[in-house]
Amino acid sequence: MGFHTFDPERAEKLDDESRYRWCSIEELLSILSPEPDDELADLGSGTGFYTDPIAERVAKVHAVDVQPEMHDMYEEKGIPENVRPVTAEVADLPFGDGALDGVFSTMTYHEFSGEDSMAEISRILRPGGRVVIVDWDRNGPGEGGSVPEERHELGHAVSALGSAGLTVDHAVSRTETFVCRARKLR
Ligand SMILES: C[S@@+](CC[C@H](N)C(=O)[O-])C[C@H]1O[C@@H](n2cnc3c(N)ncnc32)[C@H](O)[C@@H]1O
Repeated sequence: MGFHTFDPERAEKLDDESRYRWCSIEELLSILSPEPDDELADLGSGTGFYTDPIAERVAKVHAVDVQPEMHDMYEEKGIPENVRPVTAEVADLPFGDGALDGVFSTMTYHEFSGEDSMAEISRILRPGGRVVIVDWDRNGPGEGGSVPEERHELGHAVSALGSAGLTVDHAVSRTETFVCRARKLR
């Protein structure tokens, strides 16, 4: 397994609004630029903390998480009608080739960053589709989220996306997190 599970006992921490310090909804929206007809996937969706605000602006979001317990918690909170929980690993996504307009992932890239996962992301995107990744930065002070030794640098994500045939058009490293966006040109 190429991932660590997230302790469901700690899952309520994922719904702590102070997390917007690391990535606000406004920022995620501005980078993802969701369109009303979009069908997207949130990779490592957890309790749906970032899934919900995106789902308000698109036709459909597939909330992908490897742990069914996380979907159970999301169900308890209330899953929007246009969100479909999908229990799967990013390295083996149950979507057809070119099926989605975009994918996004918050604070989970370090869990699925292998070649298999990146190839899957590229495979399921339609031409012109985009991927947005926000995650903990290895060079950050380690104040939030995973411990520094489990993290990657921005360059790791940029390189992995490029190797999967995607074109990176936005990549920024901040104090504690990095964000990057790539597109599938064809
Ligand atoms: C740190 S939580 C972040 C959840 C959510 N993205 C957020 O920011 O609130 C990471 C989530 O990713 C899931 N996960 C970890 N590795 C995964 C993988 N390889 N494929 C799918 N889900 C994964 C975990 O089960 C957990 O729910």
